[in-house]
Order: sequence, then structure tokens, then C-alpha cells
Amino acid sequence: MSENLRLSAPDGSLADATVYPDPLALVGAAAAFVAERANEAISARGRFTIALSGGATPKPVYGRLASARLDWTRVHVFFGDERCVPPDDPLSNYRMAKEALLDKIAIPPANVRRMRGEDPPDAAARQYEQALREGLGEDGRLDLVLLGLGDEGHTASLFPGLAAVTETVRWVAASYVEAAGRWRISLTPPIINAARMVAFLVAGAGKADVLRRVLLGPRQPVVLPAQAIRPAERPALWLLDAAAAARLDRQA
Ligand code: 6PG
Repeated sequence: MSENLRLSAPDGSLADATVYPDPLALVGAAAAFVAERANEAISARGRFTIALSGGATPKPVYGRLASARLDWTRVHVFFGDERCVPPDDPLSNYRMAKEALLDKIAIPPANVRRMRGEDPPDAAARQYEQALREGLGEDGRLDLVLLGLGDEGHTASLFPGLAAVTETVRWVAASYVEAAGRWRISLTPPIINAARMVAFLVAGAGKADVLRRVLLGPRQPVVLPAQAIRPAERPALWLLDAAAAARLDRQA
């Protein structure tokens, strides 16, 4: 059984959350959610464009998604962020997605656009903005952006205090992240907030406090970058397990 919550922050901004009893239920539901969005977009527009999240939480979701009934020739995969490492590095988000999903599905290689973490960061960010503009074409919007939430409130590679958090023009930015001790490349709020749908996947008790601050606390996106995500079309959807949602007020 899942539970739907509509949460409103002190400044009136809304978020929709669905809470699943445990991580396994979250994984199954998140994979089904992505497949539904994909089939919906393919029927409506003939293609589905998705930006994958990095980190540990989405990996089992990608594994489950690999067995979804989908016409993968009509799916176009982008990335929300990348660590500035080669594509075969254990820290590479591309490598994680490749092993968990891309190697297991019949997706044309041209439909997968990764961030070139091995290149000089600023050049890689510019190259990826070009790839996004070409890949999205006139539409210029992603159908779905998957995001995670870091312990200190970062999302994608939008970390507290970075200029990329308040970016208003560029779609992709490279930043040196002190906390990670390395450069990262990230989609920025303008392109994320233009997406038809944004979904956060958050699991575990370790995220309960930061999740409460992001969703119910005062608005301070430079300190809590996940708060910079305010999709224009509809409130972001937060797919949570009960442990992560433990500190959220229950207003069905
Ligand atoms: C990354 C991610 C990052 C991630 C959060 C949560 O490259 O690390 O894109 O934003 O989503 O750090 O990570 P976990 O899912 O591992 O908790």
C-alpha cells in the first residue's frame, strides 16, 4: 500500500509525494512509473526523452526497468549529472546506468547521450548543452528528469553555494565541488524546471531530516539546492520510502 501526500512549504510551493512501505516497493513503483511515462510520451509524441539520475538509489530501479515492455528505439537517454571521471571509472554515473540498464536493452547507441566526464569540465558542459539542444530539437523539453537528494540537500550536481544553483540561462554547468573533491557536470534549474515531469527518488532514514527541510522548511535554494527545482508544468513528484518520509507531516 502506498500513501499520497500533498505538501505545501511555508512559501506556498507545493510538492506531491508518494510513500511506499519499503525500499523494494519503491523500486518496483519507480520502475513502473518511468515505463508509464515512456509509453505515454511515445503514444503522444512518438519518442520519450529522459534524464537519468546518478547515485545509489536509482540503480535497482534501472535494473527493474530493463525488463519493462518498452520500444527502446523510441527512448532517448540523457544524464542529469556526471562526475568528471572516465566512462569506465567506478564513480561514473554513465557506467552505473550502463551496467544496470543500457547494456540490457535494445536501445540504439545514438539514443544514449552521456556527459563526457573525461574531458575538460567546461568544454564537456558546453558540448553537452549542444547535445541536449540537438537531441531535444524544437521541443527543447525533457519528458522526465529523475533526481536524487544528497544528505546536505544537493540534487544532480547542484551543491550548496554553487553558482550553478542560481543559473538562469545555460542548461549545463561545470563546477568544482569541494565536498566531492572533484569537478562535476550538471543540468541546471532552467532545463530541469522546463521538463514535463520531474521525479525525485529518495530512500532511507538518513534522508528524513534533509527531506523535511527541503519540502517543509523555509525557502533557501543556495543552502538546499533541491529547492531550486520548481517545475513549471506541475509540482515535482517525490517517490519515497517510509523511512525517508518519516519526518513529513501527514496531510493526505
Ligand atoms: C550523483 C547524483 C546525486 C545523487 C544524490 C543522492 O551523481 O551522486 O546525481 O545528486 O542523486 O547524491 O545519492 P544517493 O542516491 O546515493 O543517496
